[in-house]
Amino acid sequence: MSSNSIGKALTFTCFGESHGPLIGAVLDGCPAGLPLNDADIQVELDKRRPGLTEISTSRREEDRVEIVSGVYKGYTTGAPICMIVRNLDVDSKPYETVMFKPRPGHADYTAKVKYGGYNDPRGGGRFSGRITVAYVMAGAVAKKILGLIGVEVLAHTVQIGGVRVEGEVPYDNIRRNVYANPARCAVPELAERMIDEILRAARDGDSIGGVVEGIALNVPVGLGEPIFDSLDADIAKMLFNIPAVKGVEFGAGFRLASMRGSEANDQYAIRDGRIATLTNNSGGIIGGISNGMPIKVRVAFKPTPSISKKQRTVNLETMSEEEIQIAGRHDPCIVPRAVPVVEACLAFVLADHALRAGAIPRIVRGEK
Ligand SMILES: Cc1cc2nc3c(=O)[nH]c(=O)nc-3n(C[C@H](O)[C@H](O)[C@H](O)COP(=O)(O)O)c2cc1C
Repeated sequence: MSSNSIGKALTFTCFGESHGPLIGAVLDGCPAGLPLNDADIQVELDKRRPGLTEISTSRREEDRVEIVSGVYKGYTTGAPICMIVRNLDVDSKPYETVMFKPRPGHADYTAKVKYGGYNDPRGGGRFSGRITVAYVMAGAVAKKILGLIGVEVLAHTVQIGGVRVEGEVPYDNIRRNVYANPARCAVPELAERMIDEILRAARDGDSIGGVVEGIALNVPVGLGEPIFDSLDADIAKMLFNIPAVKGVEFGAGFRLASMRGSEANDQYAIRDGRIATLTNNSGGIIGGISNGMPIKVRVAFKPTPSISKKQRTVNLETMSEEEIQIAGRHDPCIVPRAVPVVEACLAFVLADHALRAGAIPRIVRGEK
């Protein structure tokens, strides 16, 4: 596995396996002088922790961060920041069969072929949602970097199964409501229906998917490096590296395909003395460059692959078709746990591009 690092000015390396001793992140390129402590990281990790609600896996993990390098006396030093979280609640027994009886929808088969059977299959190994602990740690630092220029990153659940949030949700409702309910939805009435939908799928031994919207506010005009490091391309790449993501769209996204130009174009105006657009169908990015409007990206998650319903698979040892019934502890819906992960990914890419664009200096002399 040779591609475990991403970013240019700010690079993030992800390491660890679901049932190994720990999950870790190394962030290189963070400016010196940024105030940073465990609590800054922990607050983000707590948003994605498993085992806290009736709709998530029963794997109980504390997810306590340890910053092991790059911070001295409460400030970043400019050296690589290495952060780890230990895996404490590990039960590998249910995974003894997945190497020869691959789970439909999971990476067991493709990983076994690619790595000749040497990959760690326990809990999905490197293909587990657990690796997103590292994404969240990197994103927590990225959020602090972005805070220096007033950029705020939010995310919320906008769909689970057939329950959808229609129209725009005020940003204050997102700030206030998302982490106050287990569905991570900014509209409390819909959150309850989403939870029912998840519980119904779980009762059937099944799972369900949905959509998370990521939003970045106060992004300066000019982030993005066309053509091959366009801002939307880099954000999409990072988001597609979240396990179970199957679709990413910016602004009006696929709806743009059925619009006329006169409807799709975001026309310019002056608002509060600044150039703004009257609509935001482009999701805040034009020509691969941020245009100063909110960045809006929607991320589609498939249903959790590991379900307890019987499914068909192939026994790779006997080369015969067999049935599989999956045990182990799984989220019946990935979406709520992925909300802070989407925030983290969006924050990481924006911080990388803000550093590349020179919007943030290399020494920041931050206030604690
Ligand atoms: C936060 C999070 C939690 C996840 N939890 C599970 C899980 O409990 N069981 C499972 O089978 N897949 C889970 N996944 C999804 C798998 O890791 C993913 O579907 C698998 O690696 C195959 O990759 P792909 O779906 O991107 O093709 C989770 C993903 C995320 C982001």
